[in-house]
Parts: sequence; C-alpha cells; structure tokens
Amino acid sequence: MLPFIIIVMIEVLVMYKKQLQIIRNITDFEPEIALVLGSGLGNFAEKIDKVCEVEYSQIEGMPVSTAPTHKGSFIFGFVGEKRVVAMQGRVHLYEGYSAQQVAMPIRIMRLLGAKTLILTNAAGGINKGFNCGDFMMITDHIASFVPSPLIGKNCELGTRFPDMSNAYSKALQQRIKAVAKSNNIPLKSGVYAQLTGPQFETPAEIKMLATLGADAVGMSTAIEAITAVHCGFEVCGISLISNLACGILDKPLTSEEVTDTANAVAPQFETLITEIIKAI
Ligand code: HPA
Repeated sequence: MLPFIIIVMIEVLVMYKKQLQIIRNITDFEPEIALVLGSGLGNFAEKIDKVCEVEYSQIEGMPVSTAPTHKGSFIFGFVGEKRVVAMQGRVHLYEGYSAQQVAMPIRIMRLLGAKTLILTNAAGGINKGFNCGDFMMITDHIASFVPSPLIGKNCELGTRFPDMSNAYSKALQQRIKAVAKSNNIPLKSGVYAQLTGPQFETPAEIKMLATLGADAVGMSTAIEAITAVHCGFEVCGISLISNLACGILDKPLTSEEVTDTANAVAPQFETLITEIIKAI
C-alpha cells in the first residue's frame, strides 16, 4: 500500500498516462459524457449500445470494486447519439481505498476525452420533505468529513486550489430540471453530504448533518465531484433517496432496504438518466 501511495503522489500523471495507454490499446472510442452508475443504476449499462468493455482489473494500478452490488468495468458506447463511458461499479473509502485511488477512474475518464460527468448514487434522505424512492438533483455537497482527493502533490490535470463555488454546474441543473419536468418525473433538489461509512449514521449524526444544511447523506459522490471539478469536468449529480436516514423513522436501517428501493425505482431512474444524457 505505502509504495503505491508514494507512486500516486510522485508519479501520478505518469501512471494515468500508462493506464490511458492500456485502454487505448483496447479501444479508440472517445466519449463525450462520463457516467458513474450508483446503486439502482447498475443495469443501466445494458441500456448503453455497447462498443467495448474494459474491466478495471485489466488496467494496472486501477482500484477494483469490492462492494457486493458493484461491478467493475468501464462501458463504452452510445446512448442515443451521445458517446458515453460509464463506470459500472465505483470504489469507496470504506473498501479501504484512499481518496486518491477513488479519484483515479474519474481522471481516466477525463483523459479519455469526456467533458461532462453525471454522478449517480443511492442516498439516505435527511430533508423531512423527502420520501423513499424520490430523486434528488444535487445542488451542492458537504465533503468536510472525508479526506480530499487533492491532498498531496498537485496532479497537473488541474489547479492547486480549485474553486468549488459552482461544483454542480448551474447550466446542467437547469437542463436536468427541464428534462424531469417534460418526462413527468418528480425531482427534488438538495445538498449531499458524504461520510466515510461503512456504518450507517447515528440519529445524532443525522441531526448534525441536518443542522449543517444537508438534505441527503451517502458514502461516495463528493470525493468524485471534487476530483472532477479539479480536472475540468462539467459536473452534475442525481441521488436516488433509497431510505430515510437513521433516526428520521424509529426503525433500524439495513443495506437490503437500500438495495430494494433502488431496484424498485430503477426503471424510472434509468429513464431520467437516459433523457438527461440525450439533453446535454
Ligand atoms: N446513509 C449513508 N449512505 C447511504 C444511505 C444512508 O442512509 N443510504 C444509501 N447510502
């Protein structure tokens, strides 16, 4: 692990270029849109008119997903006319990966040529106006409880001190709202807070997050968004509210509940994401 971290800090761009070359030896497909498929969207990969699939394990140094519901491949292909690369399966801090390792596949998709990134996830609803199965467009995030993926020698894909005031593109948010409206898909919006997990939060932590202005909580997306903004992606994100956060209801929370809700609303989630891709 330690030599790997040292390599990441010193030779980071060299390693990305090597990884890029491995992919380029398999496919010359140039995506315009990148997509991270969270829980409930794993099967979205089947909606992609697939040109090529590259497993993370084929790419030296790339972290592989260990989470049971996450596969581990880049899927290249078309959604309508749009050229996409999708991460079928992401990696998380709670799997033991560093924030720099979580950043790796995001940067690779940027180096492959993608300019827009759509992040998706399952999240616990904190906002009292949210219901299980709702979709929430992410307007901003709180990443203060997780390490920054940008700590260490600056990877030259971006500036040392990137601005985060418009992390989730306002222009994309407008388009997403219009797409949801024209497809009659109700869409909430709000602030996503990331914690490391893997334990779900305590009721006291959820009260704290509510006080801080969070509307939903999860274990993935903010680190990816920071990485993406740093390397010049235009970013947007949609959370599927798979459960109400701990303490909002007086009952225990299980990962089965998260998966069951995600699976139940997956078809509508797939429609929303397909239409967003076509519209941007
Ligand atoms: N907390 C953290 N992560 C989650 C949750 C939650 O309630 N639901 C889905 N991912």
